[in-house]
Amino acid sequence: EGVRVKVPASTANLGPGFDTLGMALNLYAWLEVKPADATVFHLYGDNLDGLPKDKSNLIYKVAQSVFTAAGIAVPELEISMYSDIPLTRGLGSSASAIVGALYAANLLIGSPLTREQLFDMATALEHHPDNVGASLYGGIITAVWDGVRATALRIEPPEELDVLVAIPDFQLSTTAAREALPKQVSLGDAVYNVSRASLLTGALASGRLDLVAEAMRDRLHQPYRAALVPGMARILEEAPRHGAIGAALSGAGPTILALTNRNNRQGEELRNFLLEVLQSEGISATTLWLK
Ligand code: HSE
Repeated sequence: EGVRVKVPASTANLGPGFDTLGMALNLYAWLEVKPADATVFHLYGDNLDGLPKDKSNLIYKVAQSVFTAAGIAVPELEISMYSDIPLTRGLGSSASAIVGALYAANLLIGSPLTREQLFDMATALEHHPDNVGASLYGGIITAVWDGVRATALRIEPPEELDVLVAIPDFQLSTTAAREALPKQVSLGDAVYNVSRASLLTGALASGRLDLVAEAMRDRLHQPYRAALVPGMARILEEAPRHGAIGAALSGAGPTILALTNRNNRQGEELRNFLLEVLQSEGISATTLWLK
């Protein structure tokens, strides 16, 4: 009588869409939840090492928040999880855990809460809607949050879009990467981003991959985070010359996202370029194709 869910990782921002745009990635976490006599955890895989195995575990707490919201008591749970999503790398691992826990807990009690309610709850936990929206709805999403209600529109990723990520072997906390940001920005920089986030959304929705490189430029967060990810600024600038149709910091980093057109067979050159730039900064990284 348990339930099992598979949740995608995600990349947030896509350059200009800070706290707004997100995309689900072909990299997953699996979560199984069953009522039990006593709460017990089975956490598999390196990515879950060191997470608490008692009721302070995020999955347990998030599941309980669903039961409370639905007015149903399921106090003890057997929770099993396996994840291929690396932690604190800008690939939405915490968002996928939250979405998995909300979705599985709701499913376990017959889905009394709507997906929109789960999205509101997930966003309140993450404080931004981009990663959780992508994990919950899949595809590319554009989202807004007013502090209570979150709203997302799903866009089907263009057929030819391919995704390459370079995952550096160091962790960067979202908190630290948000503390690097200024509290105020100029009107010029705001316009720079609004115009590009709008162009990017339209370009992705209509398959205009030729517009993506210009549309992925950003002045709201990447320039301030560049110092935290050595090599990033150079990669963002030069990746289009090595076969990318655009590049960005993935979420709060340190992972770097490069988008490609699958009809343009420069994948190996791009991969080598990303690895070489990072290596020249003393950073080793793993690359994955994740469309
Ligand atoms: N939009 C968020 C940020 C994603 O860039 O800080 C972090 O997970």
